[in-house]
Amino acid sequence: MNDNRLLIISYRLPFSFKTENRVTSVKQSAGGLVTAVKSLDLPASAPKPVWVGCADFSPRVWEKYKHLVNDDFEYVPVFLDKTTNKGFYNGFSNSVLWPLFHYFPSYVDYHDEDLNAYQAANQAVCDKVVELLQPDDLIWVHDYHFLPLPMLIRQNKPSATIGFFLHIPFPSYEILRLLPEKCRNYLLNGLLGANLVGFHTTDYRVHFLRSAQLSLGLAHRLGTIENGQTKVQTGAFPIGINYNLFHDAAADQAVVQERLDLKRSYPDKLIFSVDRLDYTKGVMQRLDALEALLRQHSEWLGKLVFILVVVPSRDQIQTYGERKQMIEQAVGRINGLFGTLTWLPIVYRYSDVTFSQLVALYTACDIALITPVRDGMNLVAKEFVASRQDQQGVLILSELTGAANELGEALLVNPLDEYEVADQLLYALAMSPDEQRQRMITMQERVASYDVKQWATDFIDALLTTQQDEQASRVI
Ligand code: F6P
Repeated sequence: MNDNRLLIISYRLPFSFKTENRVTSVKQSAGGLVTAVKSLDLPASAPKPVWVGCADFSPRVWEKYKHLVNDDFEYVPVFLDKTTNKGFYNGFSNSVLWPLFHYFPSYVDYHDEDLNAYQAANQAVCDKVVELLQPDDLIWVHDYHFLPLPMLIRQNKPSATIGFFLHIPFPSYEILRLLPEKCRNYLLNGLLGANLVGFHTTDYRVHFLRSAQLSLGLAHRLGTIENGQTKVQTGAFPIGINYNLFHDAAADQAVVQERLDLKRSYPDKLIFSVDRLDYTKGVMQRLDALEALLRQHSEWLGKLVFILVVVPSRDQIQTYGERKQMIEQAVGRINGLFGTLTWLPIVYRYSDVTFSQLVALYTACDIALITPVRDGMNLVAKEFVASRQDQQGVLILSELTGAANELGEALLVNPLDEYEVADQLLYALAMSPDEQRQRMITMQERVASYDVKQWATDFIDALLTTQQDEQASRVI
């Protein structure tokens, strides 16, 4: 990295304001994107990076309390009116792009006014970026909320250096083409305003290149598309986690105590999963697999417990509310079917968990059952691996996650095949400590070596190279 100023753009800012008993405080957010961006290793001499995001508070609250948000970033909230924000976030972003890019076309709920809101929100953020931009700044745009933004910025600032990273899958062209041509070309052209477009995996990158070719007729060479004046480079940058944070936390006093409590409450085999509430996470299929196991192997009745943590998310969207009901019904049904007066197979919790509770669960369980039906990366799998100082524990991981490319020593499963998942559960329940250790050590080496710092540094270095190339070509 060098001394260029960084402008980061994401839907969420990494904090929100909370008022309790009339006292307002700042609550830091802890999602994958936030942790990743915050772990950037900037040189001490670099100017303060600027983070632009959509405010979930009013301009009045910002003016009154912005002094409370005091860290290594300068924050610039963009205030969208309620209707625009709803159509932008709940509507086009999370009811069209999210289901489609995760291969759930039947969940797409398209409305023209949501697309209008998406365009308006992108324009509002573009206006703010253009107002802030200084020569040599590096712009780093994040995620599917802002697919058109690189081109909008480029139209205003032709020589800007713009990077874009997609945190979800980029689907195959057969899925993307379900969008009307005008709409998908608008999104693809939007991305083609960037100098560098990054994805979690090579597959997603290839899907994008192929879509640009088939939809726009743009050829690519060695992963680069020539789009008029702009050379658009693409790359695979599999996002990592803060390995040391999770690894070291396993020995924290609070975590040790929580782990002891868990082990005391559940002395038998413990299976664990944690996900945001989302149909992409495969929770229903996971419950089917547990049911299949208990039906076919009654010797495990009373000898295992599945702790299922579901973290509330996007609860304004109908499909999310419905999913919650479906999960609750399935948990009740399975517990009713197999439970006794002294034992229930599933312990279900619908809430956030604290960091120490999370690491205690990662380190107390025998099996982490991570089976999304589609996931861009899945950081839970990496966090579980990192936290196992004892090199024990089995990871059962869906092959439909980006993380499966890096974690081949996990027991990889197709999450839709309940019998395969049940078989792998059975195998995991009986796995020897030696085999667990061997698999875990290899995964730990990989997760530790490409951590989130490395990810961010690689992306920014690649972006910087595109800037240097552009500047050199202008001199020639
Ligand atoms: O995986 C994509 C992502 O946008 C993450 O960045 C984020 O942590 C997660 O989805 C949840 O998103 P939301 O902001 O909608 O709660």
